[in-house]
Amino acid sequence: MAKYPKPAEGTWTQHYPQLGTEPVSYSDCISPEFYEAERKAIFERAWLQVGRVEQLTRNGSYFTRDIAVANTSLIIVRGLDGEVRAFHNICRHRGNKLVWQDYPREEVSGSARQFVCKYHGWKYDLDGACVFAQQEGEFFDFDKANFGLVPVHCDVWAGFIFVNLDREPRQSLHEFLGAMITTMEGYPFDEMTQRFFYRAPVGSNWKIYMDAFQEFYHAPVLHARQLPGTIGAMAQELGFEALHYQLDGPHRVVSTSGQRPGAVPDDALKQSEIVFRSGLFGPWETPDLGALPAGLNPGRADPDQWGLDSFQIWPNFVILIWQPGWYLTYHYWPTSYNTHVFDGNLYFVPSKTPRERLAREHAAATFKEYGLQDGNTLEATQIMLESRVVDRFPLNDQEILCRHLHQVAAEWVEAYQKELAQ
Ligand code: FES
Ligand SMILES: [Fe+2]
Repeated sequence: MAKYPKPAEGTWTQHYPQLGTEPVSYSDCISPEFYEAERKAIFERAWLQVGRVEQLTRNGSYFTRDIAVANTSLIIVRGLDGEVRAFHNICRHRGNKLVWQDYPREEVSGSARQFVCKYHGWKYDLDGACVFAQQEGEFFDFDKANFGLVPVHCDVWAGFIFVNLDREPRQSLHEFLGAMITTMEGYPFDEMTQRFFYRAPVGSNWKIYMDAFQEFYHAPVLHARQLPGTIGAMAQELGFEALHYQLDGPHRVVSTSGQRPGAVPDDALKQSEIVFRSGLFGPWETPDLGALPAGLNPGRADPDQWGLDSFQIWPNFVILIWQPGWYLTYHYWPTSYNTHVFDGNLYFVPSKTPRERLAREHAAATFKEYGLQDGNTLEATQIMLESRVVDRFPLNDQEILCRHLHQVAAEWVEAYQKELAQ
């Protein structure tokens, strides 16, 4: 098979015969039993992206990350030796959550030389060792060296911090990410430190939202009203076709064409876009990032056409690189079979002038507008899937990534269940 199969003949989907072309069951989005299996089979086995190294600016910087789907909270900390480590956020004495401030269910961040439990004052070094137990002599056969924090596998790729909750990860992070993702290396993620952050609880299964952001077939219809005047109707007439789709192991990418600032006539723009010189594709004034890594624009589309790559990193993490020099990440954190929490982060090279800042704010507001429109359909879909009136749904060639996601979820659950049975 060609490295970047382009469907000169046939379809994208037919280039991956394992996907099949039949209608797809969405019972994996409405089943409490399947969700319970996903927790163990997927979220306690896959590498999960939990933060960026820029969040740990100094030795001693830390943040907590609550992972409801795995029923735990983690501490991610840069030790005094500069290493990034992860621990379960539980005190070894009587199980208190170790690091939190006013509300035990809220994530926190800060900087520390030691972690001290609020309950009875046990202390832990940043590498997890228990270094103080209150009235140590009152315990029985006690050696505090045996009561360090419970470590979690933690590794960093391109500044993205990942954890793995498995006892022994089946693959290193690098192997897990595979060639399609790791050839993004060299993209200047570390220079894009101006961050805008959205978090929203969503009343749908996590895969329903992933589907909404991994196909653009809906865009000319659902988002038609974002476009001024008759442009929306024209967009619907034209429909949507991606530049490129590619699968690699459990991961996926879609590339689309994009608007070039200046190439779009004013009457196809909103007034605010003209004023702020910015839109969905980002600020019109773009930073010079130099040569981009080989992993971007994987279909080798004409660079004047290429607009974005949306890398869907199994299971619940997305990196979306925009041609105009910035990137987005999404996370879909399950909280039950029919709810999840969506995180959206926008990252830019820091603005130097108020005008640049406003252009970034405008891009962030535009992203939220689109996200809210997408979000609306998710609950509506979940409600009716749960009616169970219809189970199997036809997915077209532009929905190849949705087909793949549900297949990978099924495969991981099946592999887990097989192991359990043995
Ligand atoms: S529970 Fe932490 S010191 Fe007692
Ligand atoms: Fe959308």
